[in-house]
Amino acid sequence: MKKPNAADRWILIIFPFLLVSMLFVGISRLVIENSHLGSVRATHRQHSPAISRAQILDGRFFMNAFGNGSSIDGCDVFDGKWMLDGASRPLYAEKSCPYLTKQVTCQRNGRPDSLYQNWKWKPHGCELPRFDALKLLELLRGKRIMFIGDSLQRTQWESMVCLIQSVIPEGKKSVHRNPPMKIFRAEEYEASIEFYWAPFIVESNSDHATRHTVLKRLVKLDSIARHGQQWKGAHVLVFESYVWWMYKPIINATMGPVENVKEYNVTTAYRLALQTWSNWLESNIDPLTQKVFFMSMSPTHLWNWEWSSRNDGNCFNESYPIEHPYWGTGSNLEIMKILRDTLQETEIDVTLLNITQLSEFRKDAHTSVYTERRGKLLTKEQKSDPNTYADCIHWCLPGVPDTWNEILYAYLLYDLGMS
Ligand SMILES: *[C@@H]1O[C@H](CO)[C@@H](O)[C@H](O)[C@H]1NC(C)=O
Ligand SMILES: *[C@@H]1O[C@H](CO)[C@@H](O)[C@H](O)[C@H]1NC(C)=O
Ligand SMILES: *[C@@H]1O[C@H](CO)[C@@H](O)[C@H](O)[C@H]1NC(C)=O
Ligand SMILES: *[C@@H]1O[C@H](CO)[C@@H](O)[C@H](O)[C@H]1NC(C)=O
Ligand SMILES: *[C@@H]1O[C@H](CO)[C@@H](O)[C@H](O)[C@H]1NC(C)=O
Repeated sequence: MKKPNAADRWILIIFPFLLVSMLFVGISRLVIENSHLGSVRATHRQHSPAISRAQILDGRFFMNAFGNGSSIDGCDVFDGKWMLDGASRPLYAEKSCPYLTKQVTCQRNGRPDSLYQNWKWKPHGCELPRFDALKLLELLRGKRIMFIGDSLQRTQWESMVCLIQSVIPEGKKSVHRNPPMKIFRAEEYEASIEFYWAPFIVESNSDHATRHTVLKRLVKLDSIARHGQQWKGAHVLVFESYVWWMYKPIINATMGPVENVKEYNVTTAYRLALQTWSNWLESNIDPLTQKVFFMSMSPTHLWNWEWSSRNDGNCFNESYPIEHPYWGTGSNLEIMKILRDTLQETEIDVTLLNITQLSEFRKDAHTSVYTERRGKLLTKEQKSDPNTYADCIHWCLPGVPDTWNEILYAYLLYDLGMS
């Protein structure tokens, strides 16, 4: 897409028509997975009523230097730079992880360069702890960690599974699919790493793996109970929702009666949805036994005029990170502000994993044309037309989402008390 001249800045903020087909990737994936139904073990727990933020801050959860969410022991882990480190990165080989879906296996899908796997995130003020899969499994013993969101969040789930699975012997690990969930189990630890498909967090007509349309999206801004039922009892909840909102500046949604559909500004709708989510947290989360994270938006690299002097393409054929200060217009600052406001007002402490800036630099790390579309790898013809077919939203694995999980791991070490 060429640089738009139009005055309407929403053109810069929302994503082009291309997005619709990208989102299909996520859906078709689930449809395919639907054919291998697995069983889900429901965990029922009693919940103590929500307690106030003041009480939380006094509790043992926040005895560590953790109160304001963005720093671990005074080090802002989101402020740093990418360093080439082929000796320690990638953290696992693409071929070694049997749980990667073909959406993300860029090497197997024909990507010629692999440097994108060799970058390590180095915060300015500290080192991230070395990822130790056994230690994490020990932390997660008897626990459930759940990733909730869209296909980007599913990639983070896949990354976490791959980071952990190699230390577990065959036969002691498994993946069960039961849409909208995918569950990885580490039997000997009675631990599970789960993914829950909810692209808007609140309920919508995009929640079902098969019965919905991508174009005619309809969000129920005040409905979350049906999803929430499945989230109860998870010890660590990691939420994410962004890209599905960003197709047009307005979105059809309901508040109250489901027949009362209205067009909302996306920003208004997003605020109302997060409010519903925040209320759910306040009446369902027990801060003494549960920990909540929210991933900030995953950046997109749809237009190369944003970072280079060219204006004829997108992330395709980018093999190096951006090295100058950079923030793409795809990462909407109004949405960021709504997120910040909501987290501040929420009585439950939610740790924001603000991965947007660090991922902004990684124009080189998207799946581009080395991916699938509606369940099929791109054909040779499609690959040769990157302006139409490159996916500059999703990420290759191994890759950037592994870094998000390294940071999550650092927080869990602190939170679950094993630093
Ligand atoms: C985080 O909290 C510490 C201690 O309460 C404070 O000194 C620091 O300024 C806070 N940082 C931010 C970014 O709010
Ligand atoms: C909302 O729904 C109506 C009726 O289906 C449709 O005409 C309109 O284009 C939709 N608006 C958006 C923003 O999708
Ligand atoms: C919707 O957004 C437009 C453009 O940003 C703004 O002018 C308008 O006031 C907004 N409407 C509401 C109800 O917030
Ligand atoms: C990719 O970029 C390089 C320069 O960085 C150029 O030589 C090459 O032709 C490009 N390949 C394609 C397929 O556009
Ligand atoms: C996330 O970090 C960026 C800078 O990297 C900042 O502009 C933004 O406000 C932060 N988001 C929140 C919700 O604090």
